[in-house]
Amino acid sequence: MSDLDISKINHVEIKQDRVIKVFAHGKKSAIRFNREVTALKRLAYIEGIPSLFSYSPTHRCIAIERIPGTPLSLADHIPDQFFAQLRVLIENLLLCGVARHSLPARDVIVQPDGSVGLVDFERCSFRHFVGDPMWWVASKVAHFNLLRLIDSYAPVQLTYDEQHMLYRQYKWQNRYRNIRQWLQR
Ligand SMILES: Nc1ncnc2c1ncn2[C@@H]1O[C@H](COP(=O)(O)OP(=O)(O)O)[C@@H](O)[C@H]1O
Ligand SMILES: [Mg+2]
Repeated sequence: MSDLDISKINHVEIKQDRVIKVFAHGKKSAIRFNREVTALKRLAYIEGIPSLFSYSPTHRCIAIERIPGTPLSLADHIPDQFFAQLRVLIENLLLCGVARHSLPARDVIVQPDGSVGLVDFERCSFRHFVGDPMWWVASKVAHFNLLRLIDSYAPVQLTYDEQHMLYRQYKWQNRYRNIRQWLQR
């Protein structure tokens, strides 16, 4: 039997002008649904973020604007200014108190005019108050994921300090992974 449990997969329907996302059932689905709705409300009017058209807590379903274009993971051509724009977008998110937990290339959209779009906010943290220590960690993680994505697509766009920082983080990640594997054995 396959390990894949389809009840744990969201149903995402991409229409011409909108996207309908029905959250998978499961223990954490209400949390993920609420997070995505809260994030989209906080980020309303930020360029590159889909507008929230409607949502139903009962059906755990949202209807959002479709960002036209191609996911970065499938794009043939990435415009020169793309990652500079992505940096600004992630900074805008952080200033609005939203920090993503990960930044997969499929959630980053290359729009037909070359501008950047970003979707999928079900896994993110929010700033709750000034000086929130968890927020400090969450924003560091968001920065790390941004630099990691730039490193895999356009490493020359990282500064020397950023490359150095990433290298240190990769080293710690490897050590942590090795220790975890060792403990599991
Ligand atoms: N508003 C949108 N505009 C354009 N593409 C989208 C939009 N929402 C989702 N997508 C595409 O559909 C994919 C899956 O949607 P997502 O919200 O990430 O759900 P999940 O990660 O649970 O499958 C995204 O990675 C993205 O490529
Ligand atoms: Mg996604």
